[in-house]
Amino acid sequence: MSERAPPARSLRAAIADVLAIAVPQGHVLACRALVRDWRGGRLAHDFAGYLPDAPARPAKPQLLRPGAMPRRGRGSTAGRIALLHALAHIEYVAIALALDMAGRFGADFPRAFVDDWLGVAADEAMHFALLDRRLRSLGSHYGAMPAHDGLWQSARATAGDALARLAIVPMVLEARGLDVTPPTIERFAAAGDMASARILTRIYQDEIRHVAVGTKWFNWGCARAGLVPESHWQMLVNQGFRGSLKPPFNDSARSTAGLTQLYYAPLATPDATLHTQGSAGSMPETA
Ligand SMILES: [Fe+2]
Ligand SMILES: [Fe+2]
Repeated sequence: MSERAPPARSLRAAIADVLAIAVPQGHVLACRALVRDWRGGRLAHDFAGYLPDAPARPAKPQLLRPGAMPRRGRGSTAGRIALLHALAHIEYVAIALALDMAGRFGADFPRAFVDDWLGVAADEAMHFALLDRRLRSLGSHYGAMPAHDGLWQSARATAGDALARLAIVPMVLEARGLDVTPPTIERFAAAGDMASARILTRIYQDEIRHVAVGTKWFNWGCARAGLVPESHWQMLVNQGFRGSLKPPFNDSARSTAGLTQLYYAPLATPDATLHTQGSAGSMPETA
């Protein structure tokens, strides 16, 4: 009798284990190991079992409501560190958002859906690691200051509907990152911080691909259900996204990702350019 290989673990169970790790460095390492296991055929395309509503929270950073966040001085070193910290937090939450996408909705899609979202999770883990390393080289680290709560709100609100999740997380929030990242890169470059500018340039290029992955699977799901993608997207965003879609939009990066103006132009806030001076308006919601 030949020995049979032990049954591969369920992908969802493996993702749940990663989401339960509350120590940031451990969470990042476990995410990378999970992606390697998936690519190496050591996890089953299987979605039996429990996925938590939200990832485990690290003890630090302290999470505050967006309105309660301390103001950042623009241009100063402290201001740049605070901005890098805010971006690191977004990337940290984005790891769990990508894992949750694969583990919660993978059964509704072809296997390539999981390939794509675990690839996104690996990118987010790398983005977080780059930013945390940059913070450390500036004498800080992830967790050294408060971060804003609420990045998981959109995940909770869309946990029951894959198309709503795709419409809002990659196609609204990550697309917003495409709008605000180029001016942020310019801010770092203008301050002479080329190391941070290079990291954000790398992140920006990856994020175009993340929006493209979201748009591709959204369109796939709409085609299967016989829905018109643009109008269904508008309906889901109106229903499930509390914020507004604020210009200026990075139309060229968005359309490179397949997210054309046919989706978002009808929902754009017409006078929002008058209101983008505040710190909340200049921050991406997720990356
Ligand atoms: Fe991303
Ligand atoms: Fe990212």
